[in-house]
Amino acid sequence: MRVLVLHGPNLNLLGEREPVIYGRATLEEIDARIGERAAQLGAEVRCFQSNHEGTLVDRLHAERRWASGLLFNPAAYTHYAWSLRDAVAAVALPCVEVHLSDVTQREPWRRVSVLADVRVALCAGRGIDSYLEGLELLVEIAPGPELDSERMATDLGKRLATPAPRAALAKDLAEAVRRAGRFRWVGLYDVGDREVVVQDVHADARHLPTLEGTRAEAIFPVLDAAGAVVGTLDVESANAQAFTPARVSWLAACARALVPFWGRSRD
Ligand code: DQA
Repeated sequence: MRVLVLHGPNLNLLGEREPVIYGRATLEEIDARIGERAAQLGAEVRCFQSNHEGTLVDRLHAERRWASGLLFNPAAYTHYAWSLRDAVAAVALPCVEVHLSDVTQREPWRRVSVLADVRVALCAGRGIDSYLEGLELLVEIAPGPELDSERMATDLGKRLATPAPRAALAKDLAEAVRRAGRFRWVGLYDVGDREVVVQDVHADARHLPTLEGTRAEAIFPVLDAAGAVVGTLDVESANAQAFTPARVSWLAACARALVPFWGRSRD
């Protein structure tokens, strides 16, 4: 996935600008963090800042064929610059609106967003993490290569055939599922119970989030030939809508393909 990151006016002064509200990180540091996370997610990013509305429109037009997603902090333009809303609608890229501060809890005029009807999500109030979550979300919802259960089962089978130590193998298998499914985190556990799909983890008292920013988690039981639960495949996403029926059945197929892992003797 290729993500265009656009920052609006005054964000070039981050670091020195109202640090109590916007934090101490400079824009360069934020862009570097976005670049690092993008590399982990297998995405490419191009970051651009301008203090001028038309320049942001021009940049979006210029990158519209390169980019497959847009991470946009229009800063103060958010609240009145309708040409930016029209530009996002015109290029038809999935757009995540980002703000460092929680615009919903500040002055009333900041609650208006020109992007409200053209964005796919809003990530605000989490400082740099607003950008990182927004990026993860874009990667997760991107129309990617459709999840192919058979190919994945074959891939996991090959990995399972290697003589790697059990802990290293678990890491490798989890990472393979994470990358292919474009999730933020995947883990394998030895003890399992029953499948749970939690759509809003923050509204569920049973959830102890492992990662900041997790919005949905699914736990798939791994059953042995006798039907006993031998382990679980746990998946976390920054996207509350991540567990679509297609993804759930793909993950269930991954869990089936992983059964031999629990047949291995413990190191
Ligand atoms: C901002 C919030 C806007 O209201 C403000 O005008 C900004 C920064 C943020 O990232 O929190 O310049 O977009």
